[in-house]
Amino acid sequence: MTYVVTDNCIRCKYMDCVEVCPVDCFYEGENMLVINPNECIDCGVCEPECPAEAILPDTENGLEKWLELNTKFSAEWPNITVKGEAPADADEMKGVENKLEQFFSPEPGAGS
Ligand code: SF4
Ligand code: F3S
Repeated sequence: MTYVVTDNCIRCKYMDCVEVCPVDCFYEGENMLVINPNECIDCGVCEPECPAEAILPDTENGLEKWLELNTKFSAEWPNITVKGEAPADADEMKGVENKLEQFFSPEPGAGS
């Protein structure tokens, strides 16, 4: 089991999650973060920290594609351990549907 970052992180990217992870297993894309499922120790501490409620345990139904996406991009994007500035329109983007199809970027973020 692992936790995964899902749709609502895209273009919200609040980054509160990275500050609490005891094993620093978040990785930064241009407009979302992902968790490395091989490094996550399933502590669950990050889940309530996300203002967008984007972090879920992969035991929930229907998260297979997110597990795949977290696995793939955590191998490609840089590690992030320090919270940066969220996008200016993060609050407006909260809860927008189908962000994966509309806004996902495979480009890496800066990392920290
Ligand atoms: Fe890190 Fe724990 Fe969240 Fe896994 S569940 S990403 S170990 S804070
Ligand atoms: Fe994304 Fe939530 Fe972290 S919006 S960057 S998973 S705090």
